[in-house]
Amino acid sequence: MKFAITGKGGVGKTTLTSLLAYAYAARGDTVMAIDADPSPCLGPALGFPQEQLKGIRPIAEMEELILERTGAQKGTYGAFFKINPRTDDIPDRFSALHRGIRLLELGAVEMGGSGCICPESVLLKSLVSNILLYRGEVVLLDMYAGVEHLSRATTDAVDAMLIVAEPTARSLSTAAQIRDLAGDLKLAHLYLVGSKVESQADRDFIAQNSPGLPVIGYVSADPAVRQADRTGTPVYDLSPKLVAEAQEIVAALDRIAEKA
Ligand SMILES: Nc1ncnc2c1ncn2[C@@H]1O[C@H](COP(=O)(O)OP(=O)(O)OP(=O)(O)O)[C@@H](O)[C@H]1O
Ligand SMILES: [Mg+2]
Repeated sequence: MKFAITGKGGVGKTTLTSLLAYAYAARGDTVMAIDADPSPCLGPALGFPQEQLKGIRPIAEMEELILERTGAQKGTYGAFFKINPRTDDIPDRFSALHRGIRLLELGAVEMGGSGCICPESVLLKSLVSNILLYRGEVVLLDMYAGVEHLSRATTDAVDAMLIVAEPTARSLSTAAQIRDLAGDLKLAHLYLVGSKVESQADRDFIAQNSPGLPVIGYVSADPAVRQADRTGTPVYDLSPKLVAEAQEIVAALDRIAEKA
């Protein structure tokens, strides 16, 4: 199964991605976690050791690789380059592996649908498509905030898109915008995940104000998230409550996969 995790800035996308990654890994699935945020923070959330994090270079920053694969030439803007570069070896070569979770950092690049056609965006789109179409792992794509980046290339091939929303009107309104955009992209499966919920009233608020999307699960507000951040520990190791909630979401996603 391949999932994109999206939503307004700061709602808890990276936290949810890290919880799901460990929930899948814990039951024996191999997991590929992709950090699509230009300022990467999924690695720390997954508790990757510092030395390993230092060794990861975001793909968008690997100029030589980009030039080699696309055949583009440095400094010749507008010249010809390959629009279907080879990328199948990139995930294994340029990722880091920790506790059964493979981490790949995409780095900062324009991922918008039609706008930018430059060698780095072509390589990244091709890489993400290749991963979504051909890799056998559970793939979790931690998107960056907002809606602008949603493009066919990144969203068409996912099995489900999880839109994360806090119990606030604003984050639900961003969720509605994302739904509209994804609707244009003919995305089949869109689900809402309630984040940082503190009460039944919070759950009700999200369910009642969902922009027509089924709520697939909730993640409670938990001080363990902050503690995890401060200690470089995956929150999965610190909060049995969040573990149980992540497992419930995984079970719900399993049920969807069975039906599909
Ligand atoms: N379940 C939670 N309980 C308490 N705090 C949380 C929870 N989830 C996230 N947070 C806090 O909210 C902030 C943002 O979390 P996170 O980085 O997961 O969100 P994000 O949506 O990935 O943000 P960004 O848009 O910057 O990528 C962090 O300070 C984090 O500690
Ligand atoms: Mg994030």
